[in-house]
Amino acid sequence: MNPTERMIQILERRYKKMTPGSLRIFRRAEKAMIRGGSHSLRLLSPYPFFVKNASGPSVIDIDGNEYLDFWQGHYANILGHNPGLTVPGDKNAGLEEESLHTGFEVETQVRLAELLLKLIGWKGHKVRFTTSGTLAAMYAVMLALGKTGRDEIVKIGGGWHGASPLLLKGVKFDPERGFRQIESAGVPESLGRKIHIVRFNDPDGLERLFQKRGDRIACFILEPYLGTGGFLPATREFLSEARRLTARCGAVLIFDEIISGFRFAPTGVQRLAGIEPDLSTFGKVIGGGHAVAAVLGKAEIMDCIQAGPGRRNRVQFTGGTFSAHPQYLRAGLKMLLRLVAQAGEIYPRIAAMGERLRTRVEEVFAAEGYNVYCTGRGNEVVGGSSLLMVNFLRSGRPVRRAEDVQDPRLSNIRLREEILRLALLTRGVHAVHGGGAVSAAHAEQDIDRAVEAFAETARLFKKSGIS
Ligand SMILES: Cc1ncc(COP(=O)(O)O)c(C=O)c1O
Repeated sequence: MNPTERMIQILERRYKKMTPGSLRIFRRAEKAMIRGGSHSLRLLSPYPFFVKNASGPSVIDIDGNEYLDFWQGHYANILGHNPGLTVPGDKNAGLEEESLHTGFEVETQVRLAELLLKLIGWKGHKVRFTTSGTLAAMYAVMLALGKTGRDEIVKIGGGWHGASPLLLKGVKFDPERGFRQIESAGVPESLGRKIHIVRFNDPDGLERLFQKRGDRIACFILEPYLGTGGFLPATREFLSEARRLTARCGAVLIFDEIISGFRFAPTGVQRLAGIEPDLSTFGKVIGGGHAVAAVLGKAEIMDCIQAGPGRRNRVQFTGGTFSAHPQYLRAGLKMLLRLVAQAGEIYPRIAAMGERLRTRVEEVFAAEGYNVYCTGRGNEVVGGSSLLMVNFLRSGRPVRRAEDVQDPRLSNIRLREEILRLALLTRGVHAVHGGGAVSAAHAEQDIDRAVEAFAETARLFKKSGIS
């Protein structure tokens, strides 16, 4: 058995010893649910732990283990777990605090829409709410297709916009094909051919594609801070080129800000960059821990939603049963208001903790001879950043694009995604994709505790001969 397999065996044994109660529940889950759960990232190998309590920086599983958590509700919980945004059962608070959906419009959604528009700050934009980032991104692309009457989509290699068929290509790196493959059965090849992939932070590649196909391209969708594809900031140059080329060709520029929105400041990266996209999507943070997402964009494009039934470019973004759920909107409103009120304190503090975590993690691995580079850094556009992704690089090349951290020839993916996660869990730290996000509920001592867990892990890897 090679050192990696031996290491996994040792870690799994430890984990199983810690989590017998979770294993019992998982056995039932496997019988009742496909693969034992509802989200593949939560279903870690050999089985997930089941959470009983979550508060501030930590969660506690049903066996009583406490984990310092950097996953924080898929990065939605920028204030930490359960920061007291909702008061369920408080009858004095009125309809919008109660948990059931009514199926009616409530004023809160107007207030949340107004606040979003004010914080993003462009003139002539409008909002429509939905219930997930996947849907928001899908509707944004449908709006672009409807508005332009074209049918080609451009996205970033490594860009994740949820599992809508329109965007399920070029998410995971394939050693043979790079970021060119369709990700799922159910996405027709003919649709896949309409989705073009470009490299992140590569303005020349973008220009070449637009020169060739500019008159057929409906939209370019990108995260202005690449999320799960590598936690990499877009350069100002790349964002400006994206704006210039889409405008020149009559294509719609979509910024997916589902991770980046309200992560670096109480606004979007678009505002920090001073670049106005035609459409943008928000989710995660804006729901205050609930299922709220939004498409925000220029009124003349958003108007395709209400175009008459006979109109060629009418986009069926009519809303779903749980769109604009009053309780969720209320939590979202409270979240954004708190972020605005405390922005001067929260954002510099979480960015400073993020910086300390990234630097110290690199140091503790370097001390054991590992070439670790932590992405999640800020840049000239976003300033500081609270994000972290640990990358075990195989060589010292600069890291700017998803390829640099997703290509197994350049970076040890298994060590980051699987082994590091399990090793940290057995030391009371929960990290997904080699890290996560520091929240306002984390304290300096939590960063010390996390660094210690990374340092122990580095020593363990070295001792076990993992490379
Ligand atoms: C940038 C981005 N867009 C879209 C999505 C999909 O959002 P959801 O999981 O809410 O459907 C995600 C989810 O992680 C995301 O990171």
